[in-house]
Amino acid sequence: MINLGDTMLVNTSKMLKEAKVNHYAVPHFNINNLEWTRYLLEVAEETNTPLILGVSEGACKYMGGFDVVTGLVKNLIRDLNITTDICLHLDHGSSFEVCKNAIDSGFTSVMIDGSKYPLEENIRLTKQVVDYAKQFDVTVEGEIGAIGGSEDGVSNELLYAKLEDCIKFYQETKVDSLAPALGSVHGLYKGEPKLDFVTMEQIRDALPIPLVLHGGTGLPDDIIRKAISCGIAKININTELQIAWHEAVMQFVKDNPLKYDPRKVIGSGESALKTAAINKIHLFSGK
Ligand code: 13P
Repeated sequence: MINLGDTMLVNTSKMLKEAKVNHYAVPHFNINNLEWTRYLLEVAEETNTPLILGVSEGACKYMGGFDVVTGLVKNLIRDLNITTDICLHLDHGSSFEVCKNAIDSGFTSVMIDGSKYPLEENIRLTKQVVDYAKQFDVTVEGEIGAIGGSEDGVSNELLYAKLEDCIKFYQETKVDSLAPALGSVHGLYKGEPKLDFVTMEQIRDALPIPLVLHGGTGLPDDIIRKAISCGIAKININTELQIAWHEAVMQFVKDNPLKYDPRKVIGSGESALKTAAINKIHLFSGK
């Protein structure tokens, strides 16, 4: 039996503070399976970039459960000799129980998404997660307003965050990072994205914590750069990597209808996925 206790994962605390101070954003890339996890860890190592691996509840179920995911990530870090800082993060945790399960299994960061509740209930739930997570040095991300679009079958109407709600939310929960919904959506944008940079800057100036931008797919480069200058220190990307991978696999299947080895089929998207991730890493680096 291999002891994985020594394999280090980090929380988001140091990486996001450094990003905020130095005006860049740490990429959060969602993982879905063994291959994506390996590709993204290799990209992190190759580019010497700290990385947040985000796992949605749906992806976690798909892979078999929290322990499978934690074991997979830790084992890959060890076997591939990954030396950059890697954080394993629950994306959009829907309840205290789900966040607790992720933390108990070894996740180093969780998002509790109480955005579907009224503010007071969101605060109560988020504080409950923060109180639990603190005991294990796990960082917590909260959400205010509601990010639009749909992810993993969960859809939301876009609801812009208000400055005063963000201040109250932070004061009462003491979350480590905050995702204020300011116009971004999960999945593909219908029409021009309209981010509220005025409120984003006000939230940055009012709170001592890094801000998170969900719905990074489809945002033009100048909007990403502007968001970073307005306090965004973590940017979530899921759909864009899926599309890059899918296009390459579709082409492979079209060109090679008789190749059925799953390693060849799934692996035909490796290069496209890695290129898409590296492009985002360069963009987020603020250079
Ligand atoms: P995209 O669907 O825009 O890639 O957003 C992903 C995300 O925000 C995950 O939480």
